[in-house]
Amino acid sequence: MPLRAARMLAVRVPPCFSNAMIAPRPVSALLAEAVAALAAAGVEAPVREARLLLLHALARPVGTLLDRAEQVLAPGFAAMVARRVRREPMALILGRQGFWTLELEVSRDTLIPRADSEAVVEAALAARPDARRVLDLGTGTGCLLLSVLNALPSAWGVGSDLSPAAAALAGRNARACGLADRAAFLAGDWAAPLTGRFDLVLSNPPYIPTVDLGMLMPEVADHEPARALDGGADGLDAYRRLAEALPGLLAPGGVAVLELGIGQHETVPALARAAGLAVLALHPDLGGVPRALVLGFPRGPMKKRLAGAAGFASLQSVQREPASGRLPGPQDAQPRASSRGRRGGQVAQ
Ligand SMILES: C[S@@+](CC[C@H](N)C(=O)[O-])C[C@H]1O[C@@H](n2cnc3c(N)ncnc32)[C@H](O)[C@@H]1O
Repeated sequence: MPLRAARMLAVRVPPCFSNAMIAPRPVSALLAEAVAALAAAGVEAPVREARLLLLHALARPVGTLLDRAEQVLAPGFAAMVARRVRREPMALILGRQGFWTLELEVSRDTLIPRADSEAVVEAALAARPDARRVLDLGTGTGCLLLSVLNALPSAWGVGSDLSPAAAALAGRNARACGLADRAAFLAGDWAAPLTGRFDLVLSNPPYIPTVDLGMLMPEVADHEPARALDGGADGLDAYRRLAEALPGLLAPGGVAVLELGIGQHETVPALARAAGLAVLALHPDLGGVPRALVLGFPRGPMKKRLAGAAGFASLQSVQREPASGRLPGPQDAQPRASSRGRRGGQVAQ
């Protein structure tokens, strides 16, 4: 039996959390049972998580004080604790995750946004606070693109993801954040569905070497899609594709900000340089790990740089603001008409 399946079977859900509870019970008893079950399952912060789940079940805001003697009917609490005992991530149980300035819907279709990735947003806003055209490759929940658009009111952007369900999720998040008129999402293979050039290209690609996937915490290994994690034999497959594509996606003066995995701060810059790009900066995350790699064209005569950039000849309307004077928008990054199955751009908004 595969290791992961064996681990799933080995998790025992305590009987009190196996059935829905229907009678009101004191908060103290509910919390005590939940804390014990979560601790036994190896959850790191059982007290905090039990409180969070109970508040969620009671539809009370985070931070509300609970009266331990209060008798409550907490529909769904038992089922939520049972899910957490099986090491399902809190964010998936709550259905939401805070990221940068936004609160986003999450699902099993893509990665739950991580605090580490906020370094990409910070680096992008520092590098191009004037960006108008933003592209996010492997957008997932849309967390990177939507955070940047929320901070830059004149910008518009496009996000792509191989998973149509992830692209649809990002579209829902754009609507919920009031950013749908400045964001569009496409399903496709990296930039294959698109033509055009951008001031900012963001990406947090899958970067975990395949052999390391089995060593991940159960929250990740058993509940997040391999497509969002697996970077191939050396973890660099996606960076090779991105390095190849970026010279054809960046506008003059444009920058790309890529999230790096731990220990990739030399290999990924080397791939980028080999593709004709320059390393402009490398920002650490809050833990001090080099996390956000900022790339651009090397300094030099503009004509020479652009001549060397693959795909320049196919530059389309996205580079120019329309003569009509209307504000350019995601519609200006043109989905490629294609009959190549999943590589064809499918607007998911
Ligand atoms: C590490 S997750 C990042 C998601 C989100 N940008 C974030 O920072 O939380 C990588 C994302 O890339 C997507 N992906 C993987 N391979 C892809 C490909 N060939 N083309 C486009 N997206 C891809 C996955 O579906 C996943 O949503």
